[in-house]
Amino acid sequence: MPGTVEDVDVPSASDVLRRCRELVRPALVDAVGRLHPWTGEMAAYALGWSDTAGTPEPGGSEGKGVRQALAVLGAEAVGADAACGVPGAVAVELVHTFSLLHDDVMDADALRRRRPAVWKAYGTGPAVLAGDALLARAVTGLAGTPGDHAAAAVRRLCDALNDLVAGQAEDLRFEHRPWDGPGAVGPEEYRSMAEGKTGALLGCALALGAVLGGAPEPTVAALDRAGRHLGLAFQAVDDILGIWGDPATTGKPVHADLHRGKKTHPVLAALAGGSRAARELGTLLASARPTDAAAERVASLVEEAGGRAATRGEARRHLDAARDALRATPLTRTAARELDVLFAGLADRVM
Ligand code: IPE
Ligand code: MG
Ligand code: MG
Repeated sequence: MPGTVEDVDVPSASDVLRRCRELVRPALVDAVGRLHPWTGEMAAYALGWSDTAGTPEPGGSEGKGVRQALAVLGAEAVGADAACGVPGAVAVELVHTFSLLHDDVMDADALRRRRPAVWKAYGTGPAVLAGDALLARAVTGLAGTPGDHAAAAVRRLCDALNDLVAGQAEDLRFEHRPWDGPGAVGPEEYRSMAEGKTGALLGCALALGAVLGGAPEPTVAALDRAGRHLGLAFQAVDDILGIWGDPATTGKPVHADLHRGKKTHPVLAALAGGSRAARELGTLLASARPTDAAAERVASLVEEAGGRAATRGEARRHLDAARDALRATPLTRTAARELDVLFAGLADRVM
């Protein structure tokens, strides 16, 4: 797409992510190096740095590093040096890795980023312990940040952790709720669950950078809000990929959410439509958790009943809200543009 004069110097989303990963890497390596060697080995595997034998696997299955980038950009956006955001970046990346380790146990998902999940590779007990180790290290590291902002930063991280746990609790409990009728999961309940499990940490990442950069509370709150909307867009996209994604690209099996009865946005939106396809979908889902063949049928009915399009719309609305929240906040120009590019790039996964 031809850029305007304004766009000439704006890097791509992957450039932004790479720059931030490179900046944060030494501190992240140091943090993982402080773990017990066994939990450190599992953490290095989870981070995509090494295989199960502890042999380095450069570039293997590393995540994009979205959260660490948000923390760095959060600091830059409030006029601080990128280095101010690094302790926040390390903390959110460790927390994210911890949450994925435990999430794969909770969801019984055997594959993550094209490789066996940590619990599959090392066992459930060790994987739970590695998650605990990452969480403890994240909080310890952030509490040790030099300067005046460590206590406020730890407070924010802990608030986000509480929201994340609450979101995960709702996500798990929703598996046992009916699809239809009085006990069905409503749109507000879905939203609160998704904001907790995914939005809280993305909001926290941006906010932490700003806190560590010494920003005033209204700016921190606006960045937190932007990150939470980004998280809701992100989760909507994740829900779409869980039904129609290509495992070769997502690195996770398709239809796992359907098999487990996860209350995802596309299915809830499809059922709310009331069309013939929605009614057939309701009957199919009420009869049993779908087997492989039935999951294909469920996926087509969800599409036919408009669930996929509705969830795309949901992702778009939250992405717009996230970008609006950024634009309404006084931020440094370069970081604000990089954040905007990053936000747009992340939602592009399915749009
Ligand atoms: C993950 O939610 C949220 C956390 C790890 C806290 P999901 O269970 O929906 O995400 P994936 O699909 O396993 O990545
Ligand atoms: Mg999961
Ligand atoms: Mg989950």
